[in-house]
Amino acid sequence: MRTLTLVVMAVVLTSVVSMAGEAKHQYVGAEVCGMCHKTAKSGEQFQKWQASKHSQAMKTLSSPEALKIAQAKGIKGKPSEAPECLECHETAYNAPASLLGPKFNKEDGVQCESCHGAGGDYKTMSVMKDRQKAIANGLVLVSVSDGSAEKLCETCHNKRSPNFKGFDFKKMWAEIAHPVPKQ
Ligand code: HEC
Ligand code: HEC
Ligand code: HEC
Ligand code: HEC
Repeated sequence: MRTLTLVVMAVVLTSVVSMAGEAKHQYVGAEVCGMCHKTAKSGEQFQKWQASKHSQAMKTLSSPEALKIAQAKGIKGKPSEAPECLECHETAYNAPASLLGPKFNKEDGVQCESCHGAGGDYKTMSVMKDRQKAIANGLVLVSVSDGSAEKLCETCHNKRSPNFKGFDFKKMWAEIAHPVPKQ
């Protein structure tokens, strides 16, 4: 049990580190993941993400509501440029420009790589097809069944979110689940 907890913590820490932009791998952006992850056979992960609120998280920061929230917190300037908001609404918000690939678009909000790690070194077919190789090259694999997925969600879905109303993992996961269909 203790080992499992440690593994879970390690996975969560890894993803927190990559969110903080300290990962060595380059962020490629959701469009690049979508090149392969949009067929019916793969499970249409790209379309499911596009239809989810995660893809809209940066647009949300440009709304009048976001401005009100930011002003109430004493933040000067645009919420879409405030680190206090970007840390959860943008992928790789703190990464140096050298780690942002040519197709990476910060307007795409909470992208695949917020949860799966920066893909620059695992996105090629030969690496992706080999799970161990992919992990060695930066793929973060969290799982619903061992609770590590829930821990990952809670790095953003928590009380530091200005409008936090609690987080029901089962219900929220059902809204964004994107499994590979069984053959
Ligand atoms: C060149 C095509 C290609 C690209 C680009 C690609 N993938 Fe994959 N990915 C695959 C293939 C093929 C698999 C293996 C699927 C299978 O076994 O059914 C896979 C598997 C995965 C898995 C599941 C791994 C496992 O073992 O459970 C995740 C998660 C994943 N990809 C995320 C991403 C993310 C995030 C990106 C973008 C950074 C990305 N992929 C880019 C082809 C690709
Ligand atoms: C990097 C931060 C981050 C992580 C990690 C994250 N989320 Fe989110 N999530 C957000 C933000 C920001 C929004 C709000 C997007 C918006 O409405 O603009 C959101 C919104 C959502 C919504 C839509 C909520 C609504 O009000 O309709 C669901 C569902 C959701 N997330 C599920 C999850 C699940 C499940 C996980 C874990 C597997 C997760 N999220 C992980 C940042 C994150
Ligand atoms: C700790 C992570 C986190 C931070 C920091 C954060 N947000 Fe969010 N934000 C979220 C999540 C998660 C949601 C999705 C709401 C939900 O379903 O719980 C969200 C939703 C929203 C929404 C949509 C309204 C709603 O309640 O669904 C607005 C607007 C918003 N955030 C504005 C901001 C602004 C402005 C800032 C900076 C002052 C900010 N957020 C900072 C995580 C965060
Ligand atoms: C909010 C976090 C989050 C985002 C954003 C996200 N994923 Fe995932 N993804 C997960 C989690 C958690 C799992 C593990 C699910 C499980 O345990 O069943 C997963 C599983 C997968 C799998 C394996 C599915 C299977 O059945 O084996 C693939 C492939 C994948 N994601 C690709 C993507 C791609 C491509 C994107 C962007 C278009 C993306 N994901 C965006 C959290 C996320």
